[in-house]
Amino acid sequence: MAKVKTEKSNPSSLSFCNSCTNGGGSKMPPKLPSTLPYLILLSVIFFYLYSNFLLPHSSSATTKATTSPPPCNLFRGNWVLDPNKSTKPLYNESCPFHRNAWNCLRNQRENMVLINSWRWVPKDCDLSMIDPERFLGLMRNRNIGLVGDSLNENFLVSFLCSLRVADGNAKKWKKKRAWRGAYFPKFNVTVAYHRAVLLAKYEWQPKPPTVNGELKGIYRVDVDIPAEDWASITDFYDVLVFNTGHWWGYDKFPKETPLVFYRAGQPILPPLGLFDGLKVVLENMVSYIEKEVPSKTLKFWRLQSPRHFYGGEWNQNGSCLLNEPLKENELDLWFDPSNNGVNKEARKINHVIEETLQGTDIRLLDLTHLSEFRADAHPAIWLGKKDAVAIWGQDCMHWCLPGVPDTWVDILSELIRNSLQMG
Ligand SMILES: *[C@@H]1O[C@H](CO)[C@@H](O)[C@H](O)[C@H]1NC(C)=O
Ligand SMILES: *[C@@H]1O[C@H](CO)[C@@H](O)[C@H](O)[C@H]1NC(C)=O
Ligand SMILES: *[C@@H]1O[C@H](CO)[C@@H](O)[C@H](O)[C@H]1NC(C)=O
Ligand SMILES: *[C@@H]1O[C@H](CO)[C@@H](O)[C@H](O)[C@H]1NC(C)=O
Repeated sequence: MAKVKTEKSNPSSLSFCNSCTNGGGSKMPPKLPSTLPYLILLSVIFFYLYSNFLLPHSSSATTKATTSPPPCNLFRGNWVLDPNKSTKPLYNESCPFHRNAWNCLRNQRENMVLINSWRWVPKDCDLSMIDPERFLGLMRNRNIGLVGDSLNENFLVSFLCSLRVADGNAKKWKKKRAWRGAYFPKFNVTVAYHRAVLLAKYEWQPKPPTVNGELKGIYRVDVDIPAEDWASITDFYDVLVFNTGHWWGYDKFPKETPLVFYRAGQPILPPLGLFDGLKVVLENMVSYIEKEVPSKTLKFWRLQSPRHFYGGEWNQNGSCLLNEPLKENELDLWFDPSNNGVNKEARKINHVIEETLQGTDIRLLDLTHLSEFRADAHPAIWLGKKDAVAIWGQDCMHWCLPGVPDTWVDILSELIRNSLQMG
């Protein structure tokens, strides 16, 4: 299904334009009327033609200002069943970077072949599978960092297992406060994940003995201090992908152990609710990134990965035993906040993120919509541990690997590739 993408900037057009430039000024016949106004008019006409018709065809290497790839939105499209199953995942259960709970092949999840037979086909362009050799070649001597919660770790595992195909000597890497990652020696490339679920610094504070009632303590969040896990390492990376969202819920922080927000070392008064806290943290983290992360670093913000709990929350027997992706006309029912469904938070949180990022140079990695379809592709009850479902419920939040995050990798690598080639 996924056809090889046609190159956006065709190097062969370079020679075309070079000859155009040479055909201009230097060969001007000496007998032409040499009056100044005539010459000026000629130059103006020439310059007009040159800049309007000729430059856009030239390679991006020669002109920065006027060339950009044709608009192409990789985030809108459809999942199409590839009847020939012609493209197989790049890795299997033996990839050493797997995390057990997401290793659906090893855990013998049903439908794994079917899950990986759907191809994301963007509306206006083709999306090809990542070419690990080519991509790592382009990234030589550069590093990619993912920062955020376990959904970015899910993303990382897919990335590492895909890239490993091009470098069998890939090694686990866990330095510079990284939670996990890999080093690809053949290309001198590091790809790693820094766990910072709220992005801001937060820490547990047991309740003072004088406080009675249900409160067991608080999680103090310093809205203006980024978590140490990532704040000091950003200059190691050439590409950074941020996310936060899944921890901003009252199931993670119930009223006995709430988040309490601090600014400049003082509690914010009146105390902020979770959602307002998220807004303030986002504003502060984004402004930190804008100020402190080197401007040459390519920055992405990954929008929410949607959950697919059907019939109840994760702790209320919510389930995702679906055999195929949702239909486009089912998505709003599942996800539009006005329908008040179990999984409504993704779009709500996206809205705040998009607002906060406006006017910054952080790019949106809008993987929400394409992932909303894939109710069929979570680990569900196949978690690799006997009592896991009884204790934790089904996992309708993370993704099976191989699976949907492989498409995230295809898209991210395509966007990185485009940016680097545009210089
Ligand atoms: C599937 O295979 C058949 C026969 O080889 C071919 O004609 C068809 O184009 C293929 N379809 C896709 C979507 O690749
Ligand atoms: C998994 O892929 C590796 C190559 O990375 C291959 O050697 C191995 O046989 C595969 N295992 C299975 C069970 O398909
Ligand atoms: C590997 O890449 C780093 C940048 O990430 C660079 O500083 C270093 O010199 C590179 N090493 C080699 C051997 O090229
Ligand atoms: C979940 O299912 C179990 C077993 O069917 C049942 O005992 C329990 O009451 C259910 N819990 C909820 C919250 O529906």
